[in-house]
Amino acid sequence: MRNEKGKIITITSSKGGVGKSIFLLNLAGIYQRLGKKILLLDLDFSGGSLAVSLNVLAEKTIYNVMDDFLHNRYTEVLEYVSSYNEAIDVIACPKDPRQITKIEIRYLIPFLERASFIYDVILIDTTHGFSKDNIVIYDNSDTLVYLMTNDLLDLKNSKNFMSIMKDIEMDHLRVILNYSLVPHENYFSNFDIRTMIHWKIDDFLPTDYHIKNITEYLVKGIIPVLDQKTWQKKYQKNETKLFKMAKDLIGEEENYGEENIN
Ligand SMILES: Nc1ncnc2c1ncn2[C@@H]1O[C@H](COP(=O)(O)OP(=O)(O)OP(=O)(O)O)[C@@H](O)[C@H]1O
Ligand SMILES: [Mg+2]
Repeated sequence: MRNEKGKIITITSSKGGVGKSIFLLNLAGIYQRLGKKILLLDLDFSGGSLAVSLNVLAEKTIYNVMDDFLHNRYTEVLEYVSSYNEAIDVIACPKDPRQITKIEIRYLIPFLERASFIYDVILIDTTHGFSKDNIVIYDNSDTLVYLMTNDLLDLKNSKNFMSIMKDIEMDHLRVILNYSLVPHENYFSNFDIRTMIHWKIDDFLPTDYHIKNITEYLVKGIIPVLDQKTWQKKYQKNETKLFKMAKDLIGEEENYGEENIN
């Protein structure tokens, strides 16, 4: 049990397939390299993939957490997690859609409260787009990371997303533009994007982070940034940015701000 509470970071987007889960896995790897203890919580109810991507066989899922709370059977956080390695645990999303429809998201609040005394960082993956469940998840996070791409449809969706964010005063939002998904997709300038979405862009994932053999990593259950043989050799000089970004998201990096994108 820790004295200080860990940080809860949620990653979301308006559009599917913008790189949320890969970014989340790499962030987890960076936090491990920073000596943190991490919980990955898969709340992508449209078909979570974290446990599969990590080759972790999860006996219990977030459904069991919620169901046990509902029936007064809940015991303790560690009963529900599956271990990836010594630093990273994961709670999977149920595979059975019937269980997904029964998830009572309100129990997320007491669960996060308990988990934040065990883990330094809790990383939550979500389904893209607005939903009642997502609003509860956003509200109960310390930092909400909104990942978007330089893509016309994504820009349109992001404009709507930001306008709702303003209405509901979601001020712990950090907008990150992902250039690593499809390198050189830069039709719009940062100025254009900011003007279109009416929100400041906090950071970006550079083209350099495009991982050609990403499928191989996923099949083998390896987090790219933890792969010493290839990733760490190839990207060593570019890793500083990822480290700073990760520290910034948990409030451990000072003076890391707008100059990154402008
Ligand atoms: N850094 C990267 N380098 C290369 N390819 C990437 C990278 N990040 C994501 N991709 C590609 O984009 C696909 C979608 O990424 P990912 O699953 O992380 O997106 P997502 O936003 O979580 O999607 P979904 O909305 O379906 O959950 C990956 O399967 C991979 O092929
Ligand atoms: Mg995903």
